[in-house]
Amino acid sequence: MSNTIICGLQWGDEGKGKTVDYLMETADIVARGQGGNNAGHTVIANGQKYILHLIPSGILWDGKINVIGNGVVMDPVGLVKEITSLEEQGVSVTPKKLLISDRAHVVLPYHCELDAAREAALGENKIGTTKRGIGPTYADKANRIGLRLADFQDEATARKLIDIRLEEANELLSRYNLPTFTTDQVLDTVRPAIARLLPHVTNVIPTLHKAWKEGKTILFEGAQGSLLDIDFGTYPFVTSSNTTAGGACTGCGLPPHAVEKVVGVCKAYTTRVGAGPMPTLDDELSEFFHARGMEFGATTGRPRSCGWLDTVLLRLAVMVNGVTDLAVTILDGLDERKTLKICTGYDVDGTIHEFPPACRADWDKAVPVYEEMPGWESDTTKARSWDELPENAKAYLTRLSELVGAPISYVGNGPEREQTIIV
Ligand code: GDP
Ligand code: IMO
Ligand code: MG
Repeated sequence: MSNTIICGLQWGDEGKGKTVDYLMETADIVARGQGGNNAGHTVIANGQKYILHLIPSGILWDGKINVIGNGVVMDPVGLVKEITSLEEQGVSVTPKKLLISDRAHVVLPYHCELDAAREAALGENKIGTTKRGIGPTYADKANRIGLRLADFQDEATARKLIDIRLEEANELLSRYNLPTFTTDQVLDTVRPAIARLLPHVTNVIPTLHKAWKEGKTILFEGAQGSLLDIDFGTYPFVTSSNTTAGGACTGCGLPPHAVEKVVGVCKAYTTRVGAGPMPTLDDELSEFFHARGMEFGATTGRPRSCGWLDTVLLRLAVMVNGVTDLAVTILDGLDERKTLKICTGYDVDGTIHEFPPACRADWDKAVPVYEEMPGWESDTTKARSWDELPENAKAYLTRLSELVGAPISYVGNGPEREQTIIV
């Protein structure tokens, strides 16, 4: 197999975890290059359900290497919890299996408080973040006041840096009438977790390059989705990293020419969790999924807003990621629907947009232009090949591919590893 980036093309939760798990069988290494434990990747394998936040989905496979790259913001306490819960499910997480970049920035308790404080201050304009401290940690990185894992190899260095950072952080927290922190409090909170993680911490770049030169197959597991990308998403209702393909290279330390394929993962419809525009939102469709126990966030448990397939946003996502292969997931979610709508453009004050606008006001005014297709009204979950899919399902997928400008290589027709059709 080729070195492949797997990235989300919508607002996250497209089924990246399941897709990586599926592709992992023929890969050697999987690396995460951005995001933090705001992500929640669900994998159902060997009859068990696993939810991964920071650890790449390859951890479920023995003999594969999993890398948390420099571009990830890493909450040490959250990561140790995740390791413990995987171990309780019988998955081993050894320093040989999980490598963490010494350049990864560390999410500290004040980042989470600052995240919550900013959201409260925004009131009804809040982003609806996961409150995992993601934005403040990336802001510290850009402001050059962050702490990287390497800074914790010697506690005196970490202490000095936290001392400096807390002066300003505490000022802000006091302004919001929130509890402030002492350096000792911060260190006491993270010390046991950091100690547990240090055996995994290393310079991952030579390892990745050696694997690349030896012809090993590397997967890059994206987090979040293209419309949550800080540059290409529905700004400011985005996350704080580059979730699109380029983020994999800057976030792992491998160059663009090490990547041969980009698998763009999208649902057969659209979902979003958190605030921000979503032109194809449909209350009836949201209720339909929620009534079936589907579309609740894997990290926060919040119900996701659901809507019709939006090819306007997918068109942009296919372009900026350079998608070579589409993985369309949860086709089975539409099995019972009589008629399906596909959004082909946005009508903004009488002008039809083929691509998402940059302007916030335009997003708010965008009225989807729909075409309708007949549903297939039958169970697709047992299909194991393209030929076994109902004609109307094939027609729907073919139209999706035409409208977004990329070929479909995988179709998901159920949450299980085996419920994946290769096209
Ligand atoms: P991720 O964040 O992109 O990895 O996606 P999440 O795990 O947050 O959300 C995707 C959800 O859809 C999970 O509950 C998956 O188990 C489920 N899922 C993935 N692919 C399929 C599929 O083809 N059919 C069905 N029914 N569920 C799927
Ligand atoms: P995965 O990897 C869906 C959303 C939040 C919020 C916005 C900013 O599972 O697809 P943040 O905490 O990142 O500052 O929140 O981004 N968000 C996600 N939505 N899936 C995710 O990850 C998300 N990670 C962040 O809901 O709207
Ligand atoms: Mg998710």
